[in-house]
Amino acid sequence: MHGALRVRCFAPREDELLSQLEWVGVTDVTSRDFLQALLTWYEAVVEQHWEPARLRRAFRLATHVESPELVDALRASGYAFSHAEDRMHREAEGPPSGHGWEGLVLDAWSDVGVPLFFEAYHASFRDRPGFPNWAQARWADAFSGYDSFRPDLSFLVRDGDLPVAFLLAAVDPQCWVVQMGVVPSHRRRGLGATLLEEIRQRASGAGCRDLMLSVNVDNPGARRVYERAGYTRVGRTTVYRKG
Ligand SMILES: CC(C)(COP(=O)(O)OP(=O)(O)OC[C@H]1O[C@@H](n2cnc3c(N)ncnc32)[C@H](O)[C@@H]1OP(=O)(O)O)[C@@H](O)C(=O)NCCC(=O)NCCS
Repeated sequence: MHGALRVRCFAPREDELLSQLEWVGVTDVTSRDFLQALLTWYEAVVEQHWEPARLRRAFRLATHVESPELVDALRASGYAFSHAEDRMHREAEGPPSGHGWEGLVLDAWSDVGVPLFFEAYHASFRDRPGFPNWAQARWADAFSGYDSFRPDLSFLVRDGDLPVAFLLAAVDPQCWVVQMGVVPSHRRRGLGATLLEEIRQRASGAGCRDLMLSVNVDNPGARRVYERAGYTRVGRTTVYRKG
C-alpha cells in the first residue's frame, strides 16, 4: 500500500469531537493486519492529542478505495458504514442546455445574505433521510465558512418573495457544486437542471475548466438530474464511523 494519510479533528457538535482519517493517493488496501494496526494508530494519535478532552469522541474513516480486507478490519475495530458519496464531473465548456429562469428572480449570496438561503436549504432538504436540522449559523458555517467558498458563484432563486431554489459553489481550483436544492412545491419543472446550467455558465465565465459535485448514493433522483446535465461518476468516497 502506498500513499499519504491525513488525520483531521473538528467539533461539529458542542459535545462531540469528530476525527477523520483520510488516505490520499492510495490505490489498494489488502493487508488486514496492517489496516487494523493503522486504525489502532489513528485512534491513539487522536486520544494523545486531545486528552483530556471533555468531548465525546467519534472516529471516521473516509476511503475512496474498497476491499474485503478493509471492510473486515473496520468491522473488527468497531466501525460501521455511515454513508457513501459518488463524485461526479463534467467540463464547464459546452453548448447552452436551453434551460432558462422564466419569470423567476436570481439573487447573489452577497445581496440577500444567509437567512433567505437558509430558508431555501431548509425547505429543500428537510425531507432527505438523516436531515440534521441544524440551526442557521451552523449550516452557514459548514457550507460557506471556508476560503474556497465563492459568494459570486452562489445564488438564490425566488418566485416572487418565496425562495424556491439555491446553489452554493466553491473553487479549489475545480468548481464544486457544494450544495443545491429545489423546494418540493417547485420540483420536476426543470429548476434542478436550470441551476446546473446557471453554474456551468458562471463557472465557465470565471475561468473554471472542470465542474465537480458529490451525490449521496441513497439519492438516485438527484443523480439522474446530474447525469442528464452531463455529469459522469469519477469516484466514490465511503465513510465508516465508530462512536
Ligand atoms: C434533486 C433536486 C435538486 C432536483 O430538482 P428538480 O427541480 O426537481 O429537478 P428537475 O426538474 O430538473 O428534474 C427532476 C425530474 O423532473 C423532470 N422534469 C423536468 N422538467 C419537467 C417538467 N417541466 N415537467 C415534469 N417533469 C419535469 C426531470 O426529467 C426529472 O425527471 P426524473 O425524476 O424522471 O429524472 C430536488 O429534488 C431537491 O432539491 N431534492 C432535495 C435536495 C437534494 O437532494 N439535493 C441534491 C443533493 S446532492
